[in-house]
Amino acid sequence: MSIVICFNNKDPKPWQNVLELKLKEVKIEIYPNVKQPQEVTFALCWKPDQNILSKFPNLKVVQSVGASVEHIIRTQNFSPNCTLTRVVDHQLSEDMFEFILAGVMSHLKRLSEYQTDEKQKYWSQRSYKRINNTTIGVLGLGEIGAYISTKLGKLGFKVKAWSKSKKSIENVLCFNGNNGLHNVLQNTDVLINILPLTSETENILNLQNMEQLSKNAYLINVGRGEHLVDSDLITLLNNKHLSGALLDVFRKEPLPVEHPFWQHQKIKITPHIAAITDISTASNIIVTNYKNLIEGKKLIHSVSLEKGY
Ligand code: GLV
Repeated sequence: MSIVICFNNKDPKPWQNVLELKLKEVKIEIYPNVKQPQEVTFALCWKPDQNILSKFPNLKVVQSVGASVEHIIRTQNFSPNCTLTRVVDHQLSEDMFEFILAGVMSHLKRLSEYQTDEKQKYWSQRSYKRINNTTIGVLGLGEIGAYISTKLGKLGFKVKAWSKSKKSIENVLCFNGNNGLHNVLQNTDVLINILPLTSETENILNLQNMEQLSKNAYLINVGRGEHLVDSDLITLLNNKHLSGALLDVFRKEPLPVEHPFWQHQKIKITPHIAAITDISTASNIIVTNYKNLIEGKKLIHSVSLEKGY
């Protein structure tokens, strides 16, 4: 019984160090340096190479070290006795909320326009928006989406939210299904996308959907780059239907230097940092799941391979 860490774009060493402290008796190796692949029963993954998990014939648990799992589902073949799990961590939800709040408030108070003015020593007072006359639409009511919607509602925003299945959250107008999506988009001033990436949600941020937002609406994408049709966003910014966008995720990361988003005045880019998994809290989930596997108990935060979340 051993653990393998299979990461791309993330340093595996700190994870190995923390887990070695918390699981003293357990062998924890970093792919590709695995001496006995048949001993591996538990894999910790972040954007693993295509089909790499097939090298471990006795694998029982594949644990994403993030909240998302599409980077695993889309690249691996799962044997029927293998369970996929993910990180559900209050810290991740709180970090995401703080990032979104910063993005929304900066938009309402037009802070980035003042940054540009300041560079040119240009003094110009602009109108601003207030929380109590701003409607926010949230796409995705999983653990993090529900947390964000609730907190934004408590701050005084009018919040509408959309999910695949029916949900109900206090002070949030919840919608589901195709008609529900239309209800969330219409009259929304700030759209926040935090959906999981599945074949049904891919390209959901397209011209037809984003055109339904209020004139001058603002987009915040913290879901996945594949949710957004890049050229449709540029069209809607250039024809002034949307006033701007804050993007934390991209189809290709790092965002290639030649990508038009870098040059666009109305697009703000952050390098996928909205909410970064906290090793100290997330490693507790991994330890629990490893122990549950050994003791034959139910794993926590398992994912439906069929639904994709
Ligand atoms: C971040 O993108 C995550 O999946 O946790």
